[in-house]
Amino acid sequence: RPRVLSGIQPTADSFHFGNYLGALRQWVDLQEEHQPFFFIADQHAITVEQDPRLLRERTLRAAAQLLAMGVDPERSAIFVQSQVPAHAQLSWVLQCLTGFGEARRMTQFKDKSAKNGEGAASVGLFTYPVLQAADILLYRPHFVPVGEDQRQHLELTRDLAQRFNHRYKKTFRLPEPYILKATAKITDLQEPRAKMSKSASSPAGIIELLDEPKVSAKKVRSAVTDSGSEIRFDPEGKPGISNLLTIYSALTARPVADLEAEYDGRGYGALKTDLADVVVEFVTPFRDTTLELLDDQTHLTEVLRRGAEQAGAIAEATLRDVYQRVGFVAAA
Ligand code: TYM
Repeated sequence: RPRVLSGIQPTADSFHFGNYLGALRQWVDLQEEHQPFFFIADQHAITVEQDPRLLRERTLRAAAQLLAMGVDPERSAIFVQSQVPAHAQLSWVLQCLTGFGEARRMTQFKDKSAKNGEGAASVGLFTYPVLQAADILLYRPHFVPVGEDQRQHLELTRDLAQRFNHRYKKTFRLPEPYILKATAKITDLQEPRAKMSKSASSPAGIIELLDEPKVSAKKVRSAVTDSGSEIRFDPEGKPGISNLLTIYSALTARPVADLEAEYDGRGYGALKTDLADVVVEFVTPFRDTTLELLDDQTHLTEVLRRGAEQAGAIAEATLRDVYQRVGFVAAA
């Protein structure tokens, strides 16, 4: 079975609809016919300062959310990045193959370091994409399900794989990004041209999966819409309405064209009210299940331990090949 791998950072109390529709839903779907590796990227999280107590708590909340949405430990290895040391170990080797200028071209570093200046950013933030390449290449996956914002990191990953294969010996598979066009970039409800993101200036624009359902409904009903009153999918001209149509269509599996027809002439209010109901119906059971799972931390940590064991076996085998090929002497 083809392999898939993906990761998510535990940097918020809850995942949001961008994470879910852009990536996590595909994790769940791809389990059926693939061999999946899914992890919580706590080492990526510390590239910016994190409160240790919160990081630990959010890592477990992330695990609970993954299980609640249907990531199944019987089919998928679910694990925490820091529990598989091979990620950091391969990252070092790949850093030595990455050009300084090449790393500097990563737009996420430019964006994230812009606020306080490059000098204040950590070196970890700079080499973040190389750790991500290591995460991926260790498992030799065929596909990496992510949102559009990860495309550049996937390109670097392929470049590094190719460079290693060429310089030493064919070791890595070149992974394909698995990005669903319809939901590749879910946007902020208050700033519909910007991506929905946990670092947004206002929480009103982000629908969090673990928000009180009432709160989510209110956010949907208060979403910024565009001038005019026509309900039409047009991301350039009508980014607000188009984003709502995208979310509506993704949650109900109804084609956008059907929704356009149904709401034709009925105004923005009707669309928002109905979408609020659809969102509430989705988040209510999800939230209940997540909170239940969080009550049994022994079970969660056990799932993660088993996941790390499965993933670690694969990752260490790749790392052994790499160490041998670069000329490290194996321990006797
Ligand atoms: P992260 O934690 O920021 O986001 C997790 C996933 O959610 C997707 N996503 C979105 N998709 C559509 N619209 C949005 N508004 C939106 N916001 C977030 C992201 O594209 C991502 O797929 N660097 C990664 C974590 C990572 C990783 C990896 C991913 C570390 N190692 C290896 C894949 C493979 C990140 O920060 O994702």
